[in-house]
Amino acid sequence: MTKIAIIGGTGLTSLKNLQLDQREVVHTPYGEPSGPLVHGKFADTDVVFLPRHGSGHTIPPHKINYRANLWALKEQGVTHIIAVNAVGGIRDDMGPGVLVVPDQIIDYTCGRSNTYFEDGLESVVHIDFTEPYCQALRSVLIQAAQSAKVEIIDGGTYAATQGPRLESSAEIRKLERDGCDLVGMTGMPEAALARELNLCYAALAVVANWGAGKVDGAITMEAIETCLNEGMQKVRSSLEQVSKFL
Ligand code: HPA
Repeated sequence: MTKIAIIGGTGLTSLKNLQLDQREVVHTPYGEPSGPLVHGKFADTDVVFLPRHGSGHTIPPHKINYRANLWALKEQGVTHIIAVNAVGGIRDDMGPGVLVVPDQIIDYTCGRSNTYFEDGLESVVHIDFTEPYCQALRSVLIQAAQSAKVEIIDGGTYAATQGPRLESSAEIRKLERDGCDLVGMTGMPEAALARELNLCYAALAVVANWGAGKVDGAITMEAIETCLNEGMQKVRSSLEQVSKFL
């Protein structure tokens, strides 16, 4: 049976229109998740919602306990995870306000606990990550956005950076040369851990700003927030359509 979880990113710390059933504090062998799991009905479908940065948006990207978050969701019987991520846009058609369902990732993070397969193994495990996202769920997200009349770009390479600072303009130029289209700080190790747990995982990326140096001037948190408010409206309308296409 399909059971959906939504991991909310910056700008999506709660789901309006979620009919709340219960909040559940859970513990995992990997420590505490970002907060209580929020169980409820969203557009007539049972979902579990987890704000990645905590309900007060206080946990920075490099401090998120990604292993505990995904483990907790798996233990609830979750089969599919929709990850919502705020990102910076690099590719010319990926400017502020645009929604993208990425199809590839390059991992530039460091020092994060990025696997369940490290201690007490009978043998070494290497998961396949050729296609880092679940194609079936990617296609559901694209159909849902189209059904909500929200423009969405199918495919793009997500650069996962360590943060919490934003990039220099030279770093953005380097990411561009590497073939990256979007840059964010939370895509990894989340996607890889989901694969290790056999969860179907796809991301809905919302462009909050142009990557550093793509336009003149500094990137301000105010500008990011304004843009995300509008972008998250599109995310909410798209998510409301998801159950039609599962
Ligand atoms: N860089 C990295 N992460 C981000 C950005 C960015 O420009 N915008 C939102 N998340």
